[in-house]
Order: sequence, then C-alpha cells, then structure tokens
Amino acid sequence: MYQAAENRYEKMEYKRCGRSGVLLPRVSLGLWQNFGLEKPLQEQREILLRAFDMGITHFDLANNYGSPALGKAEENFGEILKSDLGKYRDELLISTKAGFDMWPGPYGNWGSRKYLMASLDQSLMRMGLEYVDIFYHHRPDPETPLEETMRALADIVRQGKALYVGISNYGDQEARDAVLLLKEMGVPCLIDQPRYNMFERGAEDGLFSTLLENGVGCICYSPLAQGALTDKYLNGIPQESRAARQGTTVGGRYLSEERLGQIRQLNELALERGQSLARMALSWVLREEAVTSVLIGASSVRQLEDSTACLDNLKFTQEELEKIDSILI
Ligand SMILES: NC(=O)c1ccc[n+]([C@@H]2O[C@H](COP(=O)([O-])OP(=O)(O)OC[C@H]3O[C@@H](n4cnc5c(N)ncnc54)[C@H](OP(=O)(O)O)[C@@H]3O)[C@@H](O)[C@H]2O)c1
Repeated sequence: MYQAAENRYEKMEYKRCGRSGVLLPRVSLGLWQNFGLEKPLQEQREILLRAFDMGITHFDLANNYGSPALGKAEENFGEILKSDLGKYRDELLISTKAGFDMWPGPYGNWGSRKYLMASLDQSLMRMGLEYVDIFYHHRPDPETPLEETMRALADIVRQGKALYVGISNYGDQEARDAVLLLKEMGVPCLIDQPRYNMFERGAEDGLFSTLLENGVGCICYSPLAQGALTDKYLNGIPQESRAARQGTTVGGRYLSEERLGQIRQLNELALERGQSLARMALSWVLREEAVTSVLIGASSVRQLEDSTACLDNLKFTQEELEKIDSILI
C-alpha cells in the first residue's frame, strides 16, 4: 500500500500561477509519452509515485496522450489514481486537454463546443475523476469562432467539471484574444502552455509579456526538446530513446549536424556550471519571469530525479546567458 513520503514538500519550490490562487511546482510531469502501452504499468507507477514523493503535485495529460493516442495515458493514470494516488486527490493538480483528432466524424477534433464538452466527459470517465483541475484547449482552431471555444471553457468551469481553464499552442495575438474573452465571461484564463526550449524561443516574441501583463501563468512544454537537450545523443542514437522509436519527431526536428554541434557546446558549458545539460536546459527555461513551471517528460525514475535536480542551480551569470545565445545563433 503506497504511503507518500512525509518529507515530500521539503525540497520542491512552488510559484504562483499568474494572478491566481494556484501554486505550481517549478517542475511538473507530463504523460504524453511513456504512459500508454509503451511501458509496463508498474514502471509508470514508479515514476508517478516518485514524482509525488518529490513534491511534484502537478500531472499534465490530454485526451490523446499515451500510445495508442486514444486515451490510454488517461486510462493508466486512472488506474494509478485508483490503486495509489487517489487518496491524495486534494494534493494533486491534474490537467487534461482537447483539440487534436480523437474520434471519427466531424465532432472529434479542433475547438467546437460539441467536441470539448464530449471529450472532457470521456477524459473524466477514463481517469475516474469528477473534475479536473485544469482543462485546456489544446490548439487554436482556425475555423470555429474563438468565442464559441472560450464559452465552452467557461461553461465547463461553471458545470464544475474543471476548476480552471487554459490554452495551449496559441500565438501571441490569439492568446490575447482568448484571455480577453474569458475575462469578459467571468472565468479568467489560468495558464498558457507553449512549447519553449533553447531551440524554440518563439514565446519570447511577445507571448511572455502578454502573459505577464494579463496575470496568466505559463508552463513550458518540451523544455528538453524531447530529450535532445541532454547528453544522450552526443554519441549517436541509443536504442532506448525517443529518437529510436518510430513515428516520433525528435530526430527530424532536433538532431541535425548543426544542432548536434550546438548540443556539444552547450554540454561543455553545463559541465563548467557543474550541471548536466538536462538540468541546465531546464534551469534556463525557469529563468524567464513569465514561466511558472517546466513541464518535463521522463522515461525512468533516474531521468525524473536528474531533471528535478535543476532546482539546485537556477542562477545564470550574464556571461553564461550570452554564451548560450551565441551558441544558438
Ligand atoms: N500542449 C502541447 O501541445 C504539448 C506537446 C508536447 C508535450 N506537452 C506536454 O509536455 C510534456 C513534456 O514534453 P516532452 O516529453 O516533449 O518533454 P521533454 O522534457 O523535452 O522531453 C522528455 C524526454 O527527454 C528524455 N529525458 C528526460 N529527462 C532526461 C534526462 N534527465 N536525461 C536524459 N534524457 C532525458 C526522455 O526521452 P527518452 O524516451 O529518449 O528517454 C523523456 O521522455 C508532455 O508529457 C506533455 O504533458 C504538451
């Protein structure tokens, strides 16, 4: 029978999520990969319980996480809630999302009220929950009026099926519009979830300042560029890695010769700082004032522990930041 570690809140740091009552752990764990059929349930359980024991209270899901991308991660997470974590429900901040293709026909994708309402009901059923803490619209829908999507989010909060709502993958102007609509509807946007890492810095061009200005929190996904910003690919592609798995984007997106050259230089700088590259890449994301939390993935307890230790060294000198910029140009 699982008993959470008594010292679980001693080391983790928490930061206020925008202008809200919610505190997020500076490191949160996502269940996109490794939490479907990719890994035995027992290994998933070990990662999740170790995370909670380290003070990671926030777990991020979506309707399409895990393999197959049809709710498997939510189903497995539901199992682990039932067997172990459920008794700590009031200490957990659980999020899910809808926005990508989930079921056939015109109502299983994008941003209609019809899709969002049905998808959240399915997610709650799979996880065995009465409510989630955060429900996100997963990506902007170019065709559905934004007002309809935001109205659906606001109504989901009124129905008590989510305590807060957020947006993900919205550009700066789209985020501004969404935040304003939600404000007018009396349900503030709690959080935005953009992709942000040393290689993908688009959020610096306006989005971060929009979030700060509007009191919206920010949790950055793929902070390790799916594992590329670690030392694992320095000598080729290990068999046990995301890049070696079929259908993943890490190789094509992040492992060109040019990128590998940058990764080697960043690795040297990390070692000079006394950090692994993974830890430096996470500390670097956390240096941004707008960033509430880094949303990591992990395929083992060892990785989870290594990444979480980024909190031991969050400071950068101006010289180090300039060196990183010069490597990345
Ligand atoms: N909103 C969205 O559209 C969206 C999109 C993508 C992700 N997300 C969220 O963000 C979460 C994290 O995304 P991500 O998995 O791409 O994040 P990430 O942290 O950039 O990459 C995680 C992967 O990097 C490797 N890794 C992690 N820690 C390591 C360490 N200390 N040393 C060496 N390798 C390490 C592992 O890959 P190996 O398998 O190779 O070991 C791990 O699965 C997702 O689970 C999801 O919740 C959201």
